[in-house]
Amino acid sequence: MAKTALFSHERLEKNGLLMLVLVLLTISIGGIVEIVPLYTIETTIERVKGVRPYTPLEQVGRNIYIREGCYACHSQQIRPFRDEVERYGHYSLAAESMYDHPFQWGSKRTGPDLARVGGKYSNEWHVVHMIDPRAVVPESVMPAYPFLADKLIRTDDIAGHLVALRRVGVPYTDEMIAEAKADLLAQADPEGDHAALQARYPKAVVGDFDGDPKRLTEMDALVAYMQMLGTLVDFSAHDLDDLRQ
Ligand code: HEC
Repeated sequence: MAKTALFSHERLEKNGLLMLVLVLLTISIGGIVEIVPLYTIETTIERVKGVRPYTPLEQVGRNIYIREGCYACHSQQIRPFRDEVERYGHYSLAAESMYDHPFQWGSKRTGPDLARVGGKYSNEWHVVHMIDPRAVVPESVMPAYPFLADKLIRTDDIAGHLVALRRVGVPYTDEMIAEAKADLLAQADPEGDHAALQARYPKAVVGDFDGDPKRLTEMDALVAYMQMLGTLVDFSAHDLDDLRQ
């Protein structure tokens, strides 16, 4: 074997300490090359037009979704496979869940994926289905959640929820936080100030959700959340390149 003077492999292989130092050096270079660029960009998620933070009512609905463990049976992530796209619609983009804390991608589909369930059914359908799934889908194994229609939601702590989400990076403005309670009430009130709400939260679905406009229940919040899922990005009019921001 030819022995070059400076660095023969034999010397390297027989010297454990030298080997260790060089291994660490090699790995660090690899690590730095991968990690440092991440600090120079604002986000690793490609921004997409239409994605906005949740309205206060949607956020309350989302909290109920998490509390009830809906993610144990439902995913919110359409994978880019033909069968999924044909069944559920455009595959999910990372940006669509960029304001989710925590995200609800899920890993189990006892029931269908819900990432684009918004607008698929009427509010009445959702209410009947949540009260008794078997009333609309006789073979359903989904549990019934009738109590949601009776339980009123708290309105006094909603600004605090938005402040907490802002801390972890959701861009709620001071105005959104100041108006949080008003927006919460307006979204489910058929007579509410919908223009102001929709100026802050474009495409917010408004009106009574649970069939009882006089009461603001957990059912209102959950159905409002269901009805917005997957509706923010307009995939019909553009191709993906136009949607990038
Ligand atoms: C034990 C599993 C299970 C749990 C927990 C569960 N679901 Fe379901 N869900 C199903 C199954 C199965 C179906 C399909 C049959 C049906 O429509 O009822 C379904 C269907 C649905 C649908 C209709 C979807 C579509 O595209 O047709 C919605 C909406 C829904 N569930 C919402 C929820 C919400 C909200 C929660 C939590 C409050 C929840 N589910 C909890 C099993 C579950």
